[in-house]
Amino acid sequence: MKPNKIGIIGCGYVGLITGVCLADLGNQVICHDIDQEKIRILQQGSPPFYEKGLQDFLKRNQDRLTFTTSIDQVIQDSDYLFISVGSPSTKTGAADTRAFNQVIDQIQKRVTNPKVIVIKSTLPVGTAQRIKQQLKGLIDQGLIDVISNPEFLREGNSIYDFMNPDRIVIGAESNQQAKKAARLYDSFTCPILLVSNEDAELIKYASNNFLATKISFINEIANICQQVGADILQVAYGIGLDHRIGHHFLQAGLGFGGPCLNKDLQAMISFSKNQINYDPHLLEAVLKINDLQPGRLLHQIKKLLKDFKGQRFGLLGLSFKPGTSDMRNAPSLNLISALLQEGAEIIAYDPKANLEAGNILKNQIQIVDDPYLVSENTSAILIATEWPEFCKLDYQKIFNNMKEPLLIDGRNIFDKDDIEKLEQIGFQYLGVGRNISLND
Ligand code: UDX
Repeated sequence: MKPNKIGIIGCGYVGLITGVCLADLGNQVICHDIDQEKIRILQQGSPPFYEKGLQDFLKRNQDRLTFTTSIDQVIQDSDYLFISVGSPSTKTGAADTRAFNQVIDQIQKRVTNPKVIVIKSTLPVGTAQRIKQQLKGLIDQGLIDVISNPEFLREGNSIYDFMNPDRIVIGAESNQQAKKAARLYDSFTCPILLVSNEDAELIKYASNNFLATKISFINEIANICQQVGADILQVAYGIGLDHRIGHHFLQAGLGFGGPCLNKDLQAMISFSKNQINYDPHLLEAVLKINDLQPGRLLHQIKKLLKDFKGQRFGLLGLSFKPGTSDMRNAPSLNLISALLQEGAEIIAYDPKANLEAGNILKNQIQIVDDPYLVSENTSAILIATEWPEFCKLDYQKIFNNMKEPLLIDGRNIFDKDDIEKLEQIGFQYLGVGRNISLND
């Protein structure tokens, strides 16, 4: 069978991972981006950002992958056009659809033979319907189909997630149209849902909003644990054993960051309030709890250190989560700005995000390549990202380097036994909703 000709417009995480994975499935894929530097790096066979497995996938599929900045070329050379351009938050929280709209305008001007437009970008409910109106002439001529095919990829695990999906959602006007896109996923054994465009658009938002809700829920319970002397790790484990609840996304800490959960929550709130006149009380509370979470931890730290002025903090972890160098909406940034505002000094280390963090923070903090350096002469160590390697550091060495023995575990990476060991070394431990310091 001849390979499908697939075009990817927008080589961010979603687009590039989709492109290399579709190439790995045997398709011929041409990836487009307006960023010339990114395309230059990709043409040399290198990934433009860190993602587990990406380098390998680029290499092993090099014969099936092309990279270009020419919009003409990607449109001409493809039967399927995946659109995966960004939809960042505007000032009001609404999704910014300008990049997407421009791509649709370009396609409208250039299409001469049949194309299936596959929308990967996360866009407000009704977007597919809106562009179907815009492209009505081409649709009536049989030149265009519009499919909504949301992604559920986690950064750091995105190649695995693409290749091992829980479900594939395909939204279209009719089952016949949906099946044109479903063909691309023939080799997968998971459920493939053929639904309307609106259903697909809403499945995407509701999924991310629900994940955010679980995190804010467990953070709220953690904040209560803190007050009553309970340990959130035990409580989360206890509630997660109920199979109706489950253990996933019940890790309390500094709250959710990253490019998606915040953005999609804000977009849904803005859409509900401004487009359909509905007050989304639960979603607003989820966002508020998340916004307050880093400040709550700082408040606890202040009770122990009294004043941040002149204190030196060692920060372990900068990226918004482990397995990525991505700093977008990283909770570490909230901590850093609050601490700097109160006159603290910060020295930080991240296994992957040092460069990206340096670009954002410039010289406001010191960033080092060795995790042990962050402990030198510090009043507190603060863990802001749950990198697994932070559990395996030599904490005796860290303790010996420090001025004051305060260890703040903003991601609850240590269990009760670990904490006992840390406290035997001499640390004062502060977690989120743990309230278990032997030194108290
Ligand atoms: C998310 C969705 O999981 C994914 O399906 C969607 O396609 C894109 O958005 P991602 O942003 O990569 O993926 O990260 P995710 O693993 O969901 O974590 C988001 C944030 O929540 C991170 O800051 C993480 O540290 C935090 N988190 C996650 C918690 O605080 N507690 C948890 O229990 C889980």
